[in-house]
Amino acid sequence: MKDNKKVCLITGASSGIGYSIAKALSADGYQLILSARREEKLNGLKNDFTDVFPGDINSVEYQDKLIEYIYNQYDRCDYLFNCAGTLETGTIDDIDIERMCAMMRVNVESTFRLTYALLKRFKKQGFGHVINISSVLGTKVRPTAGAYSATKFAMEALSEALRLELAGSAVQVSCIEPGLVMTELHKNWAVHPKESMGIHEPLNTGDIVCIVKFIMDQPANVRIPKIMILPRDHKI
Ligand SMILES: NC(=O)c1ccc[n+]([C@@H]2O[C@H](COP(=O)([O-])OP(=O)(O)OC[C@H]3O[C@@H](n4cnc5c(N)ncnc54)[C@H](OP(=O)(O)O)[C@@H]3O)[C@@H](O)[C@H]2O)c1
Repeated sequence: MKDNKKVCLITGASSGIGYSIAKALSADGYQLILSARREEKLNGLKNDFTDVFPGDINSVEYQDKLIEYIYNQYDRCDYLFNCAGTLETGTIDDIDIERMCAMMRVNVESTFRLTYALLKRFKKQGFGHVINISSVLGTKVRPTAGAYSATKFAMEALSEALRLELAGSAVQVSCIEPGLVMTELHKNWAVHPKESMGIHEPLNTGDIVCIVKFIMDQPANVRIPKIMILPRDHKI
């Protein structure tokens, strides 16, 4: 490990929540490994203590190489931030089923695969913390968003089961459940949800960073399994 820095793997680091977590943790002196497909975006964050490891999280080979790289370079990983995710919504008549299935693959299958692979390492090294970016829609549903909600319910279910499995150990799992955050997630929407949901001041990624730091600042005996953060105007 370079300079005793704690080592963090951040997926979805090329934009939005993952990008802001990366910027903040870099400023706080962590050793980072950043993952996402858009290498040019990750390169904007590269420095002596921030490595970029671009690739598609759906590739098993990529995931294996990513973990191998981290443990070859640093021989440890302290945090996994699961920020990679997509959002597909639509009515029964309109939803793009292929894109919906692709979302399920990223949000559930690939995220779970990476989580289990890292947790095996965390258990072996005797420490480690998985911080999942879930959603308020991991706790409730909305018409047209059932599949997306299901991916976040799945993340919540896995996290709670893992918490029980890991209880009493130094390895932990937390879920952050944001309401609407201004990121690229809704960039292709004809009407942005801040209009359709009447949310005048959505959260910004800095609000999520504050929650991340709150979770990371807790003493060793404290666990934060889940924490919800909503904009003031959130009504449903
Ligand atoms: N924004 C919100 O209102 C909100 C609210 C609650 C929860 N969330 C959750 O927060 C997480 C982050 O979303 P965001 O709002 O920050 O959206 P975003 O700006 O669109 O970021 C999504 C990230 O996921 C990465 N990604 C997507 N598919 C990938 C793939 N196949 N392989 C590797 N990386 C992939 C993207 O990178 P590349 O495209 O470069 O690969 C990007 O870095 C998501 O899980 C989302 O569900 C967001």
